[in-house]
Amino acid sequence: MRFPVWRVAVFIVTAVWPLLWVYQAWADVLGPDPGKVLVDRLGLGTLILLLITLSMTPLQKLTGWAGWIAVRRQLGLWCFAHVTLHLCAYAAFILGFDWSQLGVELRKRPYIIVGALAFLCLLALAVTSNRYSQRRLGARWKKLHRLAYVILGLGLLHMLWIVRADLKEWAIYASIGALLMLLRIPPVSRRIPRLITKKQSPATKA
Ligand code: HEM
Repeated sequence: MRFPVWRVAVFIVTAVWPLLWVYQAWADVLGPDPGKVLVDRLGLGTLILLLITLSMTPLQKLTGWAGWIAVRRQLGLWCFAHVTLHLCAYAAFILGFDWSQLGVELRKRPYIIVGALAFLCLLALAVTSNRYSQRRLGARWKKLHRLAYVILGLGLLHMLWIVRADLKEWAIYASIGALLMLLRIPPVSRRIPRLITKKQSPATKA
């Protein structure tokens, strides 16, 4: 492995946070409504991990370091793990595994439909993230993985629907997301390496 320390660090950081939150909910130290706090933290964790995953390609272009791309898939899979825990925490703490309440819940919290759509897209990306699918799908793999942008839009809409009046925190994530999307527009993306190569010495360019 070329970047073991970096990969192990990513593994530890992304695994420790959700486990700590689940432990805190179990130990009842998350306030009067630990289930809701856990669902919110895991939802926010998913969105933050999605933004971090999407920033790997621009960072690689900016710095020229291949390590960013080496951890991109791992981060994407952790994003899926977080959203799965988010969904499980919702089913356990808010729904109480009472599936007969799902219809009422969807009318009461329609943003869940948006979250569920994002979850299904993330599932499609997680299932096809392996090299076998990459080989089998060929050029279609890249197109399919553009779903990450749709997931970002759905995730932000899901959060906006929840926070409504308190837009400050949402605006930070939305701005980072907008910047990351901007950096993917071909004329902008083409300029990223040019900006950096001007500052690079001939030795580092080789
Ligand atoms: C089936 C899938 C999903 C369900 C059932 C679901 C459900 C929920 C629920 C019930 C809440 C708490 C609402 C409240 O505080 O009243 C929530 C919050 C949240 N969810 Fe989801 N969600 C899903 C998918 C997602 C996805 C895919 C993302 C991100 C890409 C996401 C990000 C968030 C965020 C950022 C919050 C708000 C956290 C905060 O207020 O600090 N959720 N979700």
